Amino acid sequence: MVRHLVSIMDIENCLDDIIDSGIDIKTNPAKYKNSMDSCSLGMIFEKSSTRTRVSFEVAMTQLGGHALFLSPKDLQIGRGETIADTARVLSRYLDCIMYRAFDYKNVEELALYSEIPVINGLDNREHPCQIVADLMTIKEKFSDLKGLKMVYVGDGNNVCHSLLLGGAMQGMNVVASCPENYHPWKKIVDKAESVAEQTGGSVKIIEDPFEACKDADVIYTDVWVSMGDEKEEEERESAFMKYQVNEKLIEVASKECIVLHCLPAHRGVEITDGVIDGVHSAAWDQAENRMHAQKAIILELYKNE
Ligand code: CP
Ligand code: NVA
Repeated sequence: MVRHLVSIMDIENCLDDIIDSGIDIKTNPAKYKNSMDSCSLGMIFEKSSTRTRVSFEVAMTQLGGHALFLSPKDLQIGRGETIADTARVLSRYLDCIMYRAFDYKNVEELALYSEIPVINGLDNREHPCQIVADLMTIKEKFSDLKGLKMVYVGDGNNVCHSLLLGGAMQGMNVVASCPENYHPWKKIVDKAESVAEQTGGSVKIIEDPFEACKDADVIYTDVWVSMGDEKEEEERESAFMKYQVNEKLIEVASKECIVLHCLPAHRGVEITDGVIDGVHSAAWDQAENRMHAQKAIILELYKNE
C-alpha cells in the first residue's frame, strides 16, 4: 500500500517517530548516506519556494538519490494533460513526488492516481512538512512537547491548520490568535479538538493576541498574505495590524519562550527585526530543520512500502 503525506493527519500514527528520526538524522547524517540510493524525487512547484525546494533537493542528494524540479509551465500539465495521467506516468519513472499546489484538491487527486508516495509541499489547506520541522525544533529546545503552550498569531492559513493538528497530536495546548474573518477553517479546528481530546492537549481560538500569548512557550507567526492571496494585500494588512509579533507581545509570554516563523518573513510587518533577530528566535534552526525533517519524512513513507 502506497503511503502519502497529503495532510499531517496521514502521519498521525508515526509523527513521534518522524520527529525523533529527524533529530537522529541531524546528529548522525553519515548513517543515512545511502538510504535513498539511486532514487528520484520529482518536485512540482506551482508556487515559489526557497526552503522547500532547496531542502528537499539537498536532502535527496545527501541520501544518495536525486531530485528533479518540475515546473507546471514546462510540464504538459500546463497544456491540459490531466493530473491523473501525470500521476500515472510519473509513477513509472520516479520513486516519490513532492507537489506544491494552489488547490489542495489537486494534491489529493495526484495522490489518488499515483503508485508512488506523494508529499504535499504546501497547498491552500495545509503545509505538513513545515510542521514536522517546527515540532522537531520545539522538541530540540524543550525535550518534551506535551503540555507546552503554543500560540499561532496571524492568519488562520495553511500553516496554522497543520500546526493546530500537529500540535494537538503532540498533546500541546495550541491557541490560534486570528482576527475575525481570518480564523482557521472550522472543520480543521473541529478535527484538531477531537485529536487533542485523545492526547490530553487542547485547542482554542483567542482573538486578542495579548490574552492569547500570556505565558506562551512558543509563539509562531507566518505572513499575512499567503501565495494566492495577493489581491487582498491592502485589506489584510489593516485587519492584521494588531497581530504583529513584536517586543511588546513577547513580554507577556514565558521568559523562556521561543519564537518561530516558517519564513519567508516580512520584517516590520508580521514580525519585527528585534524579535526575529532576538534571543527568543529559533527561526534559523527551524529553517535548517526543514532539511532533516524532509529526510525523515521520505524515509518513513518508504519504510513500509
Ligand atoms: N517555509 C517554506 O515553505 O518556505 P518556502 O516557501 O521558501 O519553501
Ligand atoms: N502561508 C504561506 C506559507 C509560506 C511558506 C503561504 O502559503 O504563502
